[in-house]
Amino acid sequence: VKFGGLNMEDEQLASFNRIVITACGTSWHSGLIGEYMLEEIARVPVDVEYASEFRYRNPCVDEKTLVLAISQSGETADTLAAMREGKRRGATVMGLVNAVGSTIARESDFGIYLHAGPEIGVASTKAFTSQVCALTLFTILMARLRTMSILQGREILHAMTQLPDQIEQVLELNDAIRELARTYKDTANFLYLGRGANFPSALEGALKLKEISYIHAEGYPAAEMKHGPIALIDQNMPVVVVATRDSVYSKVLSNVEEVKARRARVLATVNDGDSDVARLADHVIEVPETDDMLTPILSVV
Ligand code: M6R
Repeated sequence: VKFGGLNMEDEQLASFNRIVITACGTSWHSGLIGEYMLEEIARVPVDVEYASEFRYRNPCVDEKTLVLAISQSGETADTLAAMREGKRRGATVMGLVNAVGSTIARESDFGIYLHAGPEIGVASTKAFTSQVCALTLFTILMARLRTMSILQGREILHAMTQLPDQIEQVLELNDAIRELARTYKDTANFLYLGRGANFPSALEGALKLKEISYIHAEGYPAAEMKHGPIALIDQNMPVVVVATRDSVYSKVLSNVEEVKARRARVLATVNDGDSDVARLADHVIEVPETDDMLTPILSVV
């Protein structure tokens, strides 16, 4: 993997002993996926911090830390302040930014531009999918400097090349999803559940529902549901579950069983041809199968 804006020697990239990702909102959600990927594949310790919290804390950051600031606009005040705080403490700052020439891009030590084009609406959509793609490429770069084999790297890259066609397939579900939206348009509350790389997808789904439809929604790691939110689950609380066939599929399946036992209606995002979750769910949205770490891209679309 080669990035145009990453003017840094391999030795320097390999020398960081920790990465702190800082961002807000949707960019924070993609950062969370970045954490899962970087730790799983590149074996680098990663923390993901809300920029608004990081800037007012006393974070353990030093010159061996890479602070990764993620922002679509490159102008979010909290993210900018967090990266400046990281710099002040001696960290190297890398920007993952869409808007060319923005303040975060200019103040970063080095960076990656998303080149996703302008986000016209308030809701960040293509920025999210582009952020996850860029984070995947950055993970491959970091992993190749450490332990990952060239074959594993190629497998992930191959899966990435399939994404445009797979996204087209998901977009063909537009009419069916519109019908689903009509069915649930008067619902006041939704719960979104997911595990692993799709826990951030659940957070992102809930954020988008709030932001676009003004409907209250919460995202949770699916297993965390039983530690409180389960009290709210009944026939009036539809539950959106991301249950793609990845390493935590069987775990999510048992979470769906728990939700159904409470008589909630389940809308599940599954992989093509799924029958186990589909048997329990009231509605399914079928998306193509991809690499575990890339599933959030298709589920979020
Ligand atoms: O431009 P940024 O990525 O820094 O913006 C961060 C958040 O304000 C942004 O992602 C917000 O959550 C979106 N409107 C969500 O769709």
